[in-house]
Amino acid sequence: MKALILSGGKGTRLRPLTYSGAKQLVPVANRPILFYCIDNIVNAGIKDIGIIISPETGEEIKEAVGNGKQWDAKITYIPQDAPAGLAHAVKAARGFLKNSPFVMYLGDNLIGTDIKKFVGDFIKKKSDALILLKEVENPKQFGVAEVSGNGRIIRLIEKPENPPSNLALVGVYIFSFRIHKAIDRISPSKRGELEITDAIQELIYMGHHVKSSLLKTWWLDTGKKDDLLTANAIVLDEWGKKNIRGTVDKLSKVLGRVMLNKNSIIKASTIRGPVVIGENTVIENSFIGPHTSIGDDVRIINSSIEHSVIMNGSEVLDIERLEESLIGRRVKIVKNSRHKALRLMLGDDSVMEV
Ligand code: G1P
Repeated sequence: MKALILSGGKGTRLRPLTYSGAKQLVPVANRPILFYCIDNIVNAGIKDIGIIISPETGEEIKEAVGNGKQWDAKITYIPQDAPAGLAHAVKAARGFLKNSPFVMYLGDNLIGTDIKKFVGDFIKKKSDALILLKEVENPKQFGVAEVSGNGRIIRLIEKPENPPSNLALVGVYIFSFRIHKAIDRISPSKRGELEITDAIQELIYMGHHVKSSLLKTWWLDTGKKDDLLTANAIVLDEWGKKNIRGTVDKLSKVLGRVMLNKNSIIKASTIRGPVVIGENTVIENSFIGPHTSIGDDVRIINSSIEHSVIMNGSEVLDIERLEESLIGRRVKIVKNSRHKALRLMLGDDSVMEV
């Protein structure tokens, strides 16, 4: 079994964070989303992994993941020249996949469960495709499945105007070599892409075994909405641990599951977990509340922050209350008490609620 992670695309839906980088590298609890995908694949015993990269962000992905040594996996990078669809990406990976069965994982999808058992089911039942389905409130934004009473898939449609159900296709699929033939038989959709949803539908037409499983845990398609804060909170809740590797002075209180990385200093502050704090960060005379991720080289002085993500190199100085905020890299938020007027320099697509 091999794995194919799709890590191309332009990430338009996560702007402005993705102007300067790949959406799959946006951090959730201080780790790129893509790393959780690799964890899950490697946990299922799959060590031969292909990663689809785009001309725009490929180099950055390569730099972050490297040769896969930290997972003890073998990584092969596969360029896709244009974002021509998920099935097009599989075509581009044909030389890597050969006739092996494979897990296809969208590099911006996070799921709250191991894929190990799905891989086991796929092998045991000798399927040609196993898809994961999840009930959603907004099926129009996804591939949607129509399923009969006994769980058989009747039809799959990509982003339907009138969804036949609320069961969305999760971005994790398992395929046999037969998917390649199905992809060869389909044409681009209305949005001009070769859709994997259409290829799976084609497999059904061809009479092959397409199975589905209902995902019972959470699923976050982080590339879709700005639900990164939700992803951050869930991941901290589920996977956060107490681990203090930095320095906490006598005037500070660290409560609950707080991960404090090396060379970071907490002075005269209260940190209430679940919280993760990166390396070389200083927090002074401040309160950091639950569900907050703070990156490396950050300075937070005389401030209070809750339910937020503050990325590397940013500074928050003298801010009384900052909540539900997503702050990119090298951002400076400073209170200017001498002037009543706001003085701003915000990048394109920024949002500021005053
Ligand atoms: C893609 C698939 C869609 C699936 C979704 C899951 O959508 O085409 O069927 O439900 O991923 O993340 P896209 O991200 O291309 O809009």
